[in-house]
Amino acid sequence: MKKIGLFYGPLGGSTERVAKKVAAALGNENVDLIPAKDAKSADVDKYENVIFGLSTIGKETWESDKSANDWDVFLPEVEKADYSNKVIAMFGLGDQISYDLHFVDALGVLAEKILPKGAKIVGAVDTEAYDCRESQAIIDGKFIGLPVNEDFEPELTDERVNNWVESIKPELK
Ligand SMILES: Cc1cc2nc3c(=O)[nH]c(=O)nc-3n(C[C@H](O)[C@H](O)[C@H](O)COP(=O)(O)O)c2cc1C
Repeated sequence: MKKIGLFYGPLGGSTERVAKKVAAALGNENVDLIPAKDAKSADVDKYENVIFGLSTIGKETWESDKSANDWDVFLPEVEKADYSNKVIAMFGLGDQISYDLHFVDALGVLAEKILPKGAKIVGAVDTEAYDCRESQAIIDGKFIGLPVNEDFEPELTDERVNNWVESIKPELK
């Protein structure tokens, strides 16, 4: 397997904790863990296998020019990257109990930026195991990446991560 670039943010919370679990499940030696806030499109272009990890902290934050969270800074870089020869997988932190109309929306926002650029996104996840009403991350009837709820379902995280990693492994280059 070629090295995987795992770009994640924000730091210091659930996203970082889950990023480390994903890396461990893939084998830490196969993964470069890279904080999104410091990364440029050239860093993304170093990898043919790319994983993006992010949390949803309110749709308004994502669409505001004023906020400066890690992904506001990184998203324009992600959009500049070359997707002609990459496999992309994504996981998203969220909470469908408190935000059941916007569950892991950020995954969908990210996908909508890179799908038109020809990105091949693997690792879609069935919606049945998550009781949410609406999510921008549901594309063609499935979550476009792995949703993880560390706020209310932390006991499910290891199994979710491990199953998902097994599902993407055969797709990676
Ligand atoms: C202000 C705020 C807004 C949030 N908005 C959403 C949301 O729209 N959709 C969602 O799925 N989760 C939402 N969440 C839940 C977070 O995504 C969740 O707590 C996540 O684990 C945070 O990850 P982090 O610790 O890496 O930031 C929100 C949390 C906060 C504090």
